[in-house]
Amino acid sequence: MSKIKNVAVIGTGVIGAGWIIRCLAHNKKVFAYDKDLKLKKRLIAEIKKTWPYVKKLFNKKKLNLKNFKYFISIEEALKNADFIQECATENYAIKTKLMGTLGKYAKPNAIISSSSSGLLPTKIYSKCKNPARTMIGHPFNPVYICPGVEIVPGKKTKKNFLKKANKFYKSISMNPIMVKKELPGYLADRLQEALWREALHIVNEGYATTKDLDRAIEDGPGLRWSLMGIFLTYHLAGGKAGMKHMLEQFGPALKLPWTKLKAPKLSKKLSSTVIKGTRQQTKGKSVAVISDVRDEYLVNLQKLRKKFEKKIR
Ligand SMILES: NC(=O)c1ccc[n+]([C@@H]2O[C@H](COP(=O)([O-])OP(=O)(O)OC[C@H]3O[C@@H](n4cnc5c(N)ncnc54)[C@H](O)[C@@H]3O)[C@@H](O)[C@H]2O)c1
Repeated sequence: MSKIKNVAVIGTGVIGAGWIIRCLAHNKKVFAYDKDLKLKKRLIAEIKKTWPYVKKLFNKKKLNLKNFKYFISIEEALKNADFIQECATENYAIKTKLMGTLGKYAKPNAIISSSSSGLLPTKIYSKCKNPARTMIGHPFNPVYICPGVEIVPGKKTKKNFLKKANKFYKSISMNPIMVKKELPGYLADRLQEALWREALHIVNEGYATTKDLDRAIEDGPGLRWSLMGIFLTYHLAGGKAGMKHMLEQFGPALKLPWTKLKAPKLSKKLSSTVIKGTRQQTKGKSVAVISDVRDEYLVNLQKLRKKFEKKIR
């Protein structure tokens, strides 16, 4: 079990708030910093709004806000932290500068892990002291519910820190995926990006609405994907012979012009079609209302998944 108790969360937007809630639910002491003090009220409101789902998912009784120190100075937030989860805006210049500051004020061997969705760790930590303890810990939104986290080492990251980070993430009920070496976009976002690009082409060329495309995922592949990823799903698509037959049958389709991958130009017309289409899908419901439904669904889905995954893993 991880001995790490004191965690600093730097940047308290959507993702930072998610880490804070997850860590508090697992009795960590959390020290948070954001350069924008206006976020204080929103952060507390977000913790209170999401707590019922977190409580149910992790079978917790009470939220202990005594373990939470927030909107203190960056030096104070870092002073006692053994694990630092960086969650600032996705941008090379902002993150590289910030990592320099984190390296300066953090304990010499405190782990620094960035929530980045695709930036290369070697680059963002190029000005950080002791880069051996730095890495990416890329989560999925909502962080307080989704258990996935991609741990991506930079060229200077040392194995012992990766091991410690793995243990730490497990101690907050996450399932870390150890990426072997850095690549832009890491794993899941590369897969999602491929789908996203294809979806934009299909909308742009007028074959389907945003709603039709969403249903195509929701009623088909999406139902299966939370239990089995693309390889195991395709293995089953090959009948008794599994992947071998699947490749014999559908291998030739790899040469068909099914996928474009290069994204279409995000023209005003395409942006407006996508924005209007998704707005119609929501039928006037706010993001807050829909995310409540999503959270309740994901909590129930994960409870159900636990029963089934034991049988195939
Ligand atoms: N939103 C997602 O779905 C998602 C999923 C996984 C990972 N991420 C990653 O998480 C990180 C944060 O994304 P987000 O969606 O929470 O963004 P966000 O815009 O909601 O929050 C970013 C926060 O960082 C703060 N910030 C900016 N510069 C700072 C600095 N120098 N010091 C301290 N705070 C600073 C901002 O004030 C803001 O509150 C990004 O790297 C993003 O790629 C996002």
